[in-house]
Order: sequence, then structure tokens, then C-alpha cells
Amino acid sequence: MVKNLVIEDILKASIPNRELFYFQKGYNILWKKYFFEKKVFMRIFIYCHTFDFAVRKTFAFMGSLILLTCATALAQAPETGIISMTRQRISIDENWRFYKYDMTVKADDLIYEVRPEVKDRKDDGPADAKPTVAVDVKANRLELKPWILPTGNDFIKDPSKHHVRPDGNPGSNIPFVQNNFDDGSWENVYLPHDWAIKGPFIKDRDAEIGGSMGRLPSPGVAWYRKKLDIPASDAGKSIFLDVDGAMSYAMVWLNGSLVGGWPYGYSSWRVDLTPYVKPGGENQLAIRLDNPPSSMRWYPGGGIYRNVWLTKTNPVHVSHWGTFVTTRDVSNASATMSLEVTIDNDTKEDVAIKVVTQIFALDGTGKKTGDAVATFEPLKTSIAAGKKTKVDGSIILQNPKLWGPPPTQIPSRYMAVTTLLQNDRPIDQYETPFGIRSLHFDPDSGIYVNGELIKIKGVCQHHDLGSLGAAFNVRAAERQLEILKEMGCNAIRISHNPPAPELLELTDRMGFLVMDEAFDMWVLKKNPLDFHLIFPDWHEQDLRVMVRRDRNNPSVILWSIGNEVGEQYTGNNGAVLAKRLIDIVKEEDPDRLATSAMNWAKPDMPLPAVLDVIGVNYQGEGIRQFPEFEGTNRIRTAPQYDAFHVKFPNKVILGAETASALSSRGIYLFPVSKDISIPAKDGRGGDSKIRQVSSYELHSVDFGSSADKVFGSLDKHPFVAGEFVWNGWDYLGEPTPYYASRSSYTGIIDLAGFKKDRFYLYQSHWRPELPMAHILPHWNWPERIGEVTPVHVFTSGDEAELFLNGKSFGRKKLGQYEYRFRWDEVKYEPGELKVVTYKNGKKVDDVVRTTDEPVRLEVSVDRSEIRADGKDLAFMTVRVADKNGLTVPRANNSIKFEIEGPGEIVATDNGDPTNLVPFPSHELEAFNGLVLAIVRLKPGTTGSITVTAKSLQLKEAQVAIKNKY
Ligand code: GAL
Repeated sequence: MVKNLVIEDILKASIPNRELFYFQKGYNILWKKYFFEKKVFMRIFIYCHTFDFAVRKTFAFMGSLILLTCATALAQAPETGIISMTRQRISIDENWRFYKYDMTVKADDLIYEVRPEVKDRKDDGPADAKPTVAVDVKANRLELKPWILPTGNDFIKDPSKHHVRPDGNPGSNIPFVQNNFDDGSWENVYLPHDWAIKGPFIKDRDAEIGGSMGRLPSPGVAWYRKKLDIPASDAGKSIFLDVDGAMSYAMVWLNGSLVGGWPYGYSSWRVDLTPYVKPGGENQLAIRLDNPPSSMRWYPGGGIYRNVWLTKTNPVHVSHWGTFVTTRDVSNASATMSLEVTIDNDTKEDVAIKVVTQIFALDGTGKKTGDAVATFEPLKTSIAAGKKTKVDGSIILQNPKLWGPPPTQIPSRYMAVTTLLQNDRPIDQYETPFGIRSLHFDPDSGIYVNGELIKIKGVCQHHDLGSLGAAFNVRAAERQLEILKEMGCNAIRISHNPPAPELLELTDRMGFLVMDEAFDMWVLKKNPLDFHLIFPDWHEQDLRVMVRRDRNNPSVILWSIGNEVGEQYTGNNGAVLAKRLIDIVKEEDPDRLATSAMNWAKPDMPLPAVLDVIGVNYQGEGIRQFPEFEGTNRIRTAPQYDAFHVKFPNKVILGAETASALSSRGIYLFPVSKDISIPAKDGRGGDSKIRQVSSYELHSVDFGSSADKVFGSLDKHPFVAGEFVWNGWDYLGEPTPYYASRSSYTGIIDLAGFKKDRFYLYQSHWRPELPMAHILPHWNWPERIGEVTPVHVFTSGDEAELFLNGKSFGRKKLGQYEYRFRWDEVKYEPGELKVVTYKNGKKVDDVVRTTDEPVRLEVSVDRSEIRADGKDLAFMTVRVADKNGLTVPRANNSIKFEIEGPGEIVATDNGDPTNLVPFPSHELEAFNGLVLAIVRLKPGTTGSITVTAKSLQLKEAQVAIKNKY
């Protein structure tokens, strides 16, 4: 057996199928597979030892000959044209040089397009506060827009509207783009990189970087440089730079030549380096970014904040995002799969191509398993020189494993592997992960996935990852989704811009439903220098990019063309524009529906009429329907779900954005309102002196509603498909209602990832089958002895009894449209609060005790073994504990972190929106008993690390994190 295997394997590696073989595996894998994994040497050696010496000698000779043949074939491969078959996608995240101009001085003279000067101040800071951002001077700016626009041509449908690159090479005189510029003094950075996240926080209340943009220095101009080693063997290949996201107004030079660029910071894009590449040595890449001030309603981050790739292909290749898989007639018995492949011919000759696609099942981690489960009939086509073409085919897959959201379904996935053959030789291979599922939108009940009604229990999420900033990190995003899943969340609205592609990989893998959103504004601005400046030139390209990139992701169930756009107010004109955007979406993806999130447009206005799905922001529950807003000129809207349903009986209605409830983890303010939903104000759930909002979870922004009120409204309108809560995790910027802070109060989970009480309110409602109970507030109120201190309980149970030091406050049942138990008359006395809840007769308890003084720290970590790839992270939670190990709920001890071994503390945070200690600090005060530290191992190291948390007069705590290599 051993003999056959070995000889067969060696033959496979050496003879006719060789090209396909190299092509599929790559040299490294081949080497690993044949000489290590299958232990070829060892096997031959052992095998030969079973023979006498003469036979051994002959075998050894033959073996060597065969191995020599393999080695020669491998060594010759680059010269024989085999390399031209290999599509390579190379991560180039490492070792970039970075330089940012000081924000108070004017940068170089380049600009995408001269923009208006920003004069207005939004935050009400001191009148003499100096702007921290140099104002653009219109004179002497070199506008590069005409050279940048052609980059988007592939995403403009009408060829007559394609942009033609003007002559000239602007920017070539800037030393930073030149190969011989010495960037040795620049900072060495790894991508994804956010230049602003390390701070410091800007405490002055200046207009440009106030609370709304997170008080961090994201505006400004910066340069990134990287040397690319392009071997001589790459001559003749097509070579592309693929940028998943750069904030913003990116311009790219290679070897001193302006290549192109892309202004919208949330789009993924590609520039073709081929004409500028010099194979056979170092090539100098330079990227300039420019973040205008007052460009966003939240923290945008700054820099190349997503992954960057070098893609090398045969000049005849599958186009950028050039495959589109659709599935029809989906059942457990079979599904019809259609595949469209777009192919570019970058050569000067016409070519004839054969396209072969095989389908493989993926395992839970996204790896291909087993043999192909289906193969498409080969498709033949010819492509004229310099043109592109599309081919399509379809196939019936028997017994498909369907993609669907847990807990009732499994997110199974497949991969289409498309091979292009020219003269029967493979010249390109392209992988398309996808899922098979049916979607049905029913106006009277909601969204059905594979025939099952799935009510949307969703949250809106911004793109930042808290103290890690905008720099995308798979593990940090996965942690966000894990905690949301634990809460019962099954859907994410990406607000209000396309996400990192890896986020959708995660939602596909974990089974979240996604509403993918393109824009926060169209032509009408929300901020002086926001996307509206480039919308006329770029909306088509940016929208097509989003849909073309994300349309194979099974988690994406709905496209959104915009959030709360000003065009809601412009009657027919707004609707005409919305229709144009929807048409673009439909041209890229005829199957999925499109919506827009509306906080103003009413059923009788033109905009909703052109949408497939009615996306309602806040209007479902009604906006500012409180007596205090009567007679004001602020928007007041009566609850709208019924009115929309009557007007659009054939359209699904979705709470595209709900709640905007406010709270600060662990803060409880008195008195507590008897109401279920009221805007936060001083003395009424808010305290502007300490800039915190009470966690009784009854308060919201003035146009929003508490979670309880939204639950009631949805239960009363069962035709509504569900909700996307504003919002899942706190985010940087937009710290309504206290703009001197850095981060939001609307998250269900705080910026550090600690659960607010609201987490349990949602969990009790979204996971009714999970036995759980949660008491609030904490029970450390020495100053409130004898005072009314209401106790509320969130539970999946339907009855509950509260005990204070053993004394019962009675057993209660929840009434219709009630979502919490409340004992508003409890007077504080130290001791033990206990709730016993009942669900179908089964008991679940929760207990809160008055704690002792802090005496020690306790540390836990989400994973005690991580990879040393510079990207994997461990999240450490430090609790300030009393002698019994209880978290001391109001503790604010200062905690210092020390690390031993080959690792680093990347960031710390405590989830307090008012905390302006820079995130990289290793020392920080606990906020209501908790602090987070984020740790990573240095890339390429093998040792483990120990992190110690210390605090004066408290016993220190340690955690060991192993290296998973
Ligand atoms: C909404 C808006 C969100 C966020 C939220 C804050 O109106 O769509 O982006 O600003 O308010 O409460």
C-alpha cells in the first residue's frame, strides 16, 4: 500500500497533469505536502529497507531520478510559462512607512478637488478656541480629480461616461512619490492602520474634531510608502493593488507615476499597477490620504484601515469581483445554481477561453472539504483584445446544505472554484464562497429564510472597534458578533457604509442576516465636507462596488441605498434619485430587495413609493410624542407603522432603526421615573455634570424610545419584520447627549465590550427559551439607607418574586406589553437582593449583594491561547473585587498593566464615554469596577506572555497567554 501511494504521488507531481497540479497547490504547498506531510523521503527510506542491498541501491537510484525530475520541473516552472497560470493574492500589510503632516500646518499642494472652507463651529466651545485643523487655502492647489476618476470606470455602466485619463503625471515632483526618497525617519506601521486612534483626545471644544467625530485627530493629510519586490518572472502578468478601505481621498503612485485612487473611504477598490510596474526589483508604492475636517457624523478613523493586497494574474483573468452566484428553487431536496463569470482580456489579441467551475462544500471555518459536489458544464467564449465578456451557466445541486441563521438553522456554505483554460491549459482560478438559501419577504409577517419566519432581532453597528479604532481586526469584530449572538441578536445593519469584507465573511460563517448600506447622505449634506461633495461623480461607482463585492455573501439579505438622507424632504426629486440608485442596485443584483432608512418621509410622500422595503427609523414608535415637545418646531411624528402598512399593503415594513436608548454602564441615577420611555435630561435619567445617563434603561434620545417601548410597538404590529436597534456596541463619536465626551451612550454593550443592563433586557426578550434573570441596580448605596431605590429585573421568566434580606416584596406576573419586573417602592438597606423567577414552573434566580471594600484584582481572558501573527488578540477583563470575590460596583481604582514575554498591550479602555485617557495607555482607572486590556503576541515569536494587573493597596492578578503556533 505504502509503495503504491508513494509512487503514485510522485508521478502525479511530475508528469502530464503537472501544470494543473502546480497551479492548484502552489510551490510551497507542493513542497510541504509531498516532502513533509506525506513524508516521502521517510517512506522511500523505510520502504527500501525491506529489500536487499542491490535492490535498495536500484530503488534509491530510481527514487533520486524521480525526485530530480520533480525538482527540475519545479525549478524550470517560472521559465516555462507555468507561473502565468497562477493567480496570486498577496497580503502586503507589513512594514509600511507612514508620515502625517502636523494638522496645524498646510500640507503639500495636492488635492482631489478644491473644497469649500469650513468656518462654522458646531460644538459650543469657548469662543477663542483655535481651530486644530489648517483651513484649506484655495489658491495654488493641484487638483488630481481628472486622474483619479478613471479608476472607477469599471463601475460606470455607460461606456460613453467613462473617464479618460488626461496627459501628464501630476504629483511626480513631490519627493514622497519618488523611488529615491529616504523615508527612513518615517514611522514603520503595519496595516490595517488607524493614524488617529492613539490620540491624544482633543479636549478643546473646537468645531472640527469635537465630540461628534470622537475628539481624536482623524482629519489631516498623510502618506504611506512601501517597497514592493516584483520579480522579473512577473513580466507579462497583470498586477493590481487591491485596497479594502482607506480613509479617505486615496491617491496612488507607483515608481513616481500617478496610478489612480478612490475618494470614498468606505469603498473597496482596485488600481491597475501593470503599466507602471518594473519587474525585476524594487518598486516604490506611495499612497496619499486626506481626511477633511467636518466630514462625518461619527469617528471615521484615518489611514489605510483595512487590508491591502497585491493581486497578480494572467492578463486573461476573471474580472475584479467578477463572479455572481444566484440560487433558485431552493429546497432541502435540490437547488438551481446559476453562475455568471466576467472575464477580462488585458492582452492585445483576441482569445478563446473555456470556463470550468466546480462546487465544493465548506466546513464551519470556511475550508473546502472533500471532492467537488458538482461541476458546471464547461462554457466556451472568445474575448476580443482589451475587452471583457460574460459567460453564464446553471446547474442543479441535489440535497444542498442550506445556509440559514442559528439557532434553528445552520449557516452551511459552498465554494465555486472557477478555472479559465486557454488551449486546455489553466490560466486563472477564482474562488467564490457562497451559500444556498431562499428568501421570501411577506408584507403581513416579515422575512422568511428557507421557509421559516425569522423576525429581525438586529442591531446597527458602526465600523470602529472601540479602542482599536477603525483599523479592522477579525478577532475584535468576531468578539463583537459573539457577544451580540449571546444576546440573541440575529441581524446586523452595517450603518451607514459598506463594511470590511472580512466582516461579511464572519456574518456568513456565524449566520447573521445583514442589511448592507451604502451612504449616510446623497446630494444634500449633513456636514460641510462630507460625502455629498463627491456624490455626483461617484455614487454609481460606490454603489456598484458595494453590491458587486457583497452579492455572493449569503448573509446579505437586503441593500440599503441610504440612511436618513436629506432627499426625504425634496419630494419627487428625492424619489427620482432614490429610483436611480435602486436601478443601479438591481442591475448588479436583480434578486435582492432594496430599502432606505427613513426618519421623516411619510406614507403619502414620493420616496417610500420607490422602495422595495419600507425602512422606518424611529417613526414606528412615534417621534417626540411627549407633552414637552408640543408647540415646538422640532419634528414630531405620530406612530407610523399602521399608516405605512395601509398605504403599502404589498411591501414589507422594517424597523430599520429603533430605540437610541441611552445609558452608562453601572451608573444609576435617582429618582427613577415610573414611565417606560422618556428622553434623558438633568434630574430625569441624565446628569450633565458627570456626563452620564442612568442604567435603569428607561431613557433615550429625545426622538427615540426605550427598548421596552419598541418591544411593545413591535408586538402590537406583528406585520413589521423586526428591528435594528440603535445600536449594538457603543462607538467612537456622536456622544449624544454630552458632546464633551468621546463615545456614544446608545450602545447595548459599552465601548470596551462590557454588557450594560440593557443587554439582559434584549436577551430576555430575544431568547425567551433561555432561562435567565438579571437584577439592577447594584446594591452598594451607603448614602441611600432608607431611601426609595427601585429594583428592576430582566428575565425570560413570566413570574418573579423579589427578596431583600429574605423579606419578600411579593410575586408578580408580567402584564401584556410589559417587558420588565419592577419594584419601585424598595427602600435601600445593605445586604442581599434576590429574585426568583419562574418560567413554566421552573425557577431561575439572580442575586446581588452589598460588597465589602476592594481588596484585590481578578483577571479573566477571552482566550488563553492566541496566534503570534500580529493580528490575533486576547481581551483581558480586570475586576476590582472584595474579599469574597464580588465586583465592587463603584470602584474606580487606578490599574496598571505590565507584560512579560514577546507581546504587547495594544489598548486599554473602561467603557466610560467621558474617559479621555489615550487608548494605548497601560494605566487607567476602573469604571464601575471594570477595565479592559487588549493584548497581542509579537509576530513570528514562539514564547508565551504573562500580563499582570496592579493597583495600589490591592492584591495584583496575573494571566498567562500561550502562543498558539
Ligand atoms: C439616528 C441616525 C444614526 C445615529 C442615531 C443617534 O437618527 O440614523 O446614525 O445618529 O440617530 O441617536
